[in-house]
Amino acid sequence: MSSSTRTLLVTSALPYANGPIHIGHLVEYVQTDIWVRFQRGLGHRCAYVCADDGHGTPIMLKAEQEGMTPEALIETIGEEHRADFRDFGISFDNYHTTHSPENRACSELIYARLKEAGHIVRKDVAQAFDPVKEMFLPDRYVKGTCPSCGAPGQYGDNCEVCGATYSPADLDDAVSVLSGEKPDLRTSEHYFVRLADFETPLRRWLAGGGRGGRPPVQAEIANKLDEWFDAGLQDWDISRDAPYFGFEIPDVPGKYFYVWLDAPIGYMGSFRHLCARREDLDFDGSWTPDSEVELYHFVGKDIAYFHTLFWPAMLHGAGFRMPTGVFVHGFLTVNGQKMSKRTGTFVKARTYLDHLDPEYLRYYFACKLSSGIDDLDLSFDDFCRRVNADLVGKVVNIASRCSSFINRHFGGRLSGRLAEPDLYREAAEASGRIAALYDSREFGKAMREVMAIADRANQYIDDRKPWVLVKDGATREEVQDVCTVGLNLFRVIMTFLKPVLPRTAERVESFLRCGELSWDGIASPLLGHRIARFEPLLTRVEPARIDAMVADSMETGDAGGSASGMDAGACDRIDVAEFAKVDLRIARVTAAKLVEGADKLLEIRVDVGDEERTVFAGIRAAYPPQSLVGRHVVVVANLAPRRMRFGVSDGMILAAGPGGSDIWLLGVDEGAKAGMRVK
Ligand code: MSP
Ligand code: ZN
Repeated sequence: MSSSTRTLLVTSALPYANGPIHIGHLVEYVQTDIWVRFQRGLGHRCAYVCADDGHGTPIMLKAEQEGMTPEALIETIGEEHRADFRDFGISFDNYHTTHSPENRACSELIYARLKEAGHIVRKDVAQAFDPVKEMFLPDRYVKGTCPSCGAPGQYGDNCEVCGATYSPADLDDAVSVLSGEKPDLRTSEHYFVRLADFETPLRRWLAGGGRGGRPPVQAEIANKLDEWFDAGLQDWDISRDAPYFGFEIPDVPGKYFYVWLDAPIGYMGSFRHLCARREDLDFDGSWTPDSEVELYHFVGKDIAYFHTLFWPAMLHGAGFRMPTGVFVHGFLTVNGQKMSKRTGTFVKARTYLDHLDPEYLRYYFACKLSSGIDDLDLSFDDFCRRVNADLVGKVVNIASRCSSFINRHFGGRLSGRLAEPDLYREAAEASGRIAALYDSREFGKAMREVMAIADRANQYIDDRKPWVLVKDGATREEVQDVCTVGLNLFRVIMTFLKPVLPRTAERVESFLRCGELSWDGIASPLLGHRIARFEPLLTRVEPARIDAMVADSMETGDAGGSASGMDAGACDRIDVAEFAKVDLRIARVTAAKLVEGADKLLEIRVDVGDEERTVFAGIRAAYPPQSLVGRHVVVVANLAPRRMRFGVSDGMILAAGPGGSDIWLLGVDEGAKAGMRVK
């Protein structure tokens, strides 16, 4: 179709090999896959590669916890990931692992070139060290009291209550999440990439390094990058001390490449592995600065920083080309909330597949996706309604209505002429617009265009009423014409939907006996052609299946794979005597207000029986201040007052939940009175 065939190398982010694929991840893999299938459909050569991200501390610790080697763990998880992606129809040309010889070679090469060009510096770094586990602790493995607001149990990098950022050494009463011990501060030499060296090439790339001189990133991301440039590019620490699961740095025994160094290089490693078996692909020629090959990365907004700053800098510094485009998407929420195991909305890919057809989710995500970085919501009610109304009610309906007449009365043969050329042309001419929408990742808009064509097709059939025409000998031949128009519109619609619904499209190809549905084929309608018997192409979503899937996704008590791969470490127990010292009391909220400058905090006045106190609590997302007034809550009344940035907090309100809007105040009996003791 296109005059010039392009060669595209496309990637999705490499999922960590320490947990299952879930429907949040699938936003990205489905988005990329639709785009790749669309590009291939236009006749472009398109290599789509991915891999498991197998290195790093969480994977090392998870393997230890499971009593296996990290190699065995990533092997097992890799198999699960492959099966999940295969069953969702993700059409990778290669799915590799970052723990591979190809990736080691590419990582060592890039590092050597950066070093050679003087972009690597060495510096001493003081870092939390767990004296029991005998290892340095990443920030997230240290917990303690926020130095800024006094909130207890905060991670070593930032406070979830007041939003302050700091380093683990700043925490009060810091403990290691792994051993519960107080970490030491130890110094060790680290290797850094001097990112500031790359500010000019990065700016040049951002101004027009994409296809046809367009910017390679979305406007929202370009703005973020401007902020990062303004803040000044910091040296980036690319080394980690043993014990670590990764690649040892050449000539530096006991030090390893940080997982985020070799992870993006994993795109290269996977592609190299593919090139070894594909003669039409040229590895070296794809990475030269003047390469004609287009390189596109699809990533979530949480890792945009790595892909628009570190990765292009590394590529450039090593004498390679930079990406043509980095396409960033937002995060998936389910029923308006962050995915949660408690409510059964943290749905694993496999659990979904146990209950529902993957084509439904592919279509639903397509409807929700745009070229922007906004989050997208999967509402199960909306999902059910939309799939049933659009795919079953509109699209498949055209085929089932028309094919029954063609099969029953015309021996399966379509009419030799197209009775409504204008209607057909109108649908065919939408192909340019729809193609442009796919190309620019405006899938939601593309789906609306396609459904508008389906509406017109159904309208046409409703107007012509073949079920009436067929009863009268004089008008019976018209039925063949009407159904021929209907089925040809259906064929065009399914051609448009093929990148989204690959399996349904395959079934349609055998039902219409039309060979492969292709954009080129739209120009020539099927006439005088025999179709096969209609087989169900896609069935309705049963709400009961969704309920069953949610029930299966509810937290069952076993830890499962957590997104970060971290579990709370061993805690020291306290005895009953110690517990008895805690003065748990019922208090009545007399006033509550927002705290300026703290987006999670509320300032709450509570009546604890003998006096009123002020308490700060990080429950703003769950409880608007007005909803609290007059309510009874449980407080720890004898907690020593703590000075926070916003004032003194004199007591603590008890609540439970994972955070954000998922926080519940402990229930208090109707007859409760302020001042009553709870125990
Ligand atoms: N291993 C890194 C990526 C390395 S790429 C060189 C990583 N892995 S991940 O498993 O945490 O995430 C893989 C991709 O899935 C990321 O692009 C991430 O943004 C995306 N998503 C993970 N959860 C998501 C949602 N809830 N919603 C949408 N995308 C999400 O990051
Ligand atoms: Zn804080």
